[in-house]
Amino acid sequence: MNKHPTSQGNLSPLTPLISRTLLEAGSDTTASTMVGFIQAMACFPEVQKKAQAEIDRVIGSDRLPTMADEPQLPYIRAMIKETLRWMPTTILGAVPHATSKEDEYNGYYIPQGASVMLNVWAIHMDEKRHPNPREFRPERYEGDDLNAADSAANPDASKRDHFTFGSGRRICQGMHVAERSLFLGMSRMLWGFNITPKIRDGKPVPINPDKLTQGFVCMPETFECDIKPRDGKRARMIRESWQQAKKECVDPVTEQLREDVTLDKMSFE
Ligand code: HEM
Repeated sequence: MNKHPTSQGNLSPLTPLISRTLLEAGSDTTASTMVGFIQAMACFPEVQKKAQAEIDRVIGSDRLPTMADEPQLPYIRAMIKETLRWMPTTILGAVPHATSKEDEYNGYYIPQGASVMLNVWAIHMDEKRHPNPREFRPERYEGDDLNAADSAANPDASKRDHFTFGSGRRICQGMHVAERSLFLGMSRMLWGFNITPKIRDGKPVPINPDKLTQGFVCMPETFECDIKPRDGKRARMIRESWQQAKKECVDPVTEQLREDVTLDKMSFE
């Protein structure tokens, strides 16, 4: 991607920049959201059980979930929305916006060209909008079948699912990809694994979900939990699926991943 692409064909010189922007904008945000999801599963075991029951009923144990299963998994879809609400990685909207003309809001004068940050956290933790906001409860989104893009297009902001993809005309352009990645990540994690608090000296090690890293894009501070395969058959199928993905997607020269974090090196009990 660092090489000038015109030497390899008729691609625009902007191609590598665009690809890199997409990769950068999408990888950190999606990975941080997945960490938030894992933390939620460790803290709210009842939600995890309910999600696994739905996956087991629709998919069973003979294959991993695919995108084709999405319409049949409303609880997982609601869980994606709830994760994005509960641990909004773009806690302040990620990118400052500016007013195109002067305005007044609640008695405050806002000059033209003023920088405006979207306080996502404040909206998501508003008791009136989301009662008991620190409780992770996908049921909040029961019956909300809109995907993130359709929800964002709603001119009535009070009906929006969440604001983690931003708001207004300039908004995340990768949200369709993000929702699909999160669907596959979350449904497959729960298909294959149980996520539980770490037990030390016979007691669960406490997790504080209000401890988030600082910055424009946040994630939970380091916490401990156990992630164990639900059974040997699923562990074997995950390994096989990893080998297949490696063959199809990973560059054989760079391997794209650091040696020490690949699944090959992980031990399943
Ligand atoms: C959970 C995952 C994601 C979250 C929470 C997220 C959130 C956001 C937010 C809040 C913005 C700023 C929008 C604005 O106000 O201008 C943004 C911008 C952007 N996102 Fe995402 N995003 C995610 C995943 C992705 C993915 C997977 C891609 C690409 C495939 C992507 C591509 C972009 C791009 C290109 C921008 C820049 C838009 C601009 O500069 O106007 N995002 N994202």
